[in-house]
Amino acid sequence: MEPKLAIRNLSKRFGDLQALEGINLEIAEHEFVCIVGPSGCGKTTLLRIIAGLETANGGEILIDGKGVRAPGADRGFVFQADSLLPWRTVWKNAVIGLEINGLVSQETREYTRSLLKLVGLEGFDHYYPAQLSGGMRQRVNLARALALNPMVLLMDEPFSALDAQTREIMQSEMLRIWRSGHKTVLFITHQIDEAVYLADRVIVLGRRPGRVKEIVSVDIPRPRELNVKRKPRFIEYVDHIWQLIENDVRDSVIEEGAHRGGRRLAGQAISQE
Ligand SMILES: Nc1ncnc2c1ncn2[C@@H]1O[C@H](COP(=O)(O)OP(=O)(O)OP(=O)(O)O)[C@@H](O)[C@H]1O
Ligand SMILES: [Mg+2]
Repeated sequence: MEPKLAIRNLSKRFGDLQALEGINLEIAEHEFVCIVGPSGCGKTTLLRIIAGLETANGGEILIDGKGVRAPGADRGFVFQADSLLPWRTVWKNAVIGLEINGLVSQETREYTRSLLKLVGLEGFDHYYPAQLSGGMRQRVNLARALALNPMVLLMDEPFSALDAQTREIMQSEMLRIWRSGHKTVLFITHQIDEAVYLADRVIVLGRRPGRVKEIVSVDIPRPRELNVKRKPRFIEYVDHIWQLIENDVRDSVIEEGAHRGGRRLAGQAISQE
């Protein structure tokens, strides 16, 4: 079967920095794929290229076999940074994608209303972003991406600003939305347990240059209860993935420390000489 999303030999440079090199991935329709990897390995860059917000230096992105180069309503994007418009209310932010794409109707408005309720923002329609907590703003972001009902959802650390409890609730809600909506999801996270909990497959990226290090298939039956996170099998997956990226993470921490002028980090002496 033709993959829903195919990434072929993708590469991206920023000046001297080879951010991504030779990325090849095929994602099936209705698959839930998570991407993990150390800070700076190119996760956001990869998602932005797929979204059509950034151009690659080589390779291509195919959706249903057709090349994509620009944003489209077939892909919904939830940004890592808060991207709400401060002068628009919660409601006006939630429907902006519909407005831009000329899709405002009774039906889409009702659907958006149900999404705001789903993410726990019922009654906040007239609030402005400045009146919300970081977690609430991120939930508006999520509702906004879902409002367009895109078949492919691209999510860049969508739950990172949420407290632990809200995050777990959103993880289960995310799985429910995914299952009921037959969506294909590409989801970046820093939390390895979140990746294992959500994903059919976890793509582990390495850095310098950003490349696929390993693809881990998560063979844990669905539906997954939250208590699956305490099972040995689950913990084995988390440990395995953590080991894959541990060295890369250590390198990036040391590098950041060195940039800050040379400090002792993670028990390592870092000198600038
Ligand atoms: N517009 C840009 N111009 C120059 N360099 C960039 C640009 N965007 C990203 N980079 C560089 O490309 C590399 C990958 O960045 P990217 O944001 O994709 O990483 P990431 O994996 O999402 O990191 P994080 O986990 O911290 O979000 C980094 O070294 C970053 O500095
Ligand atoms: Mg990022």
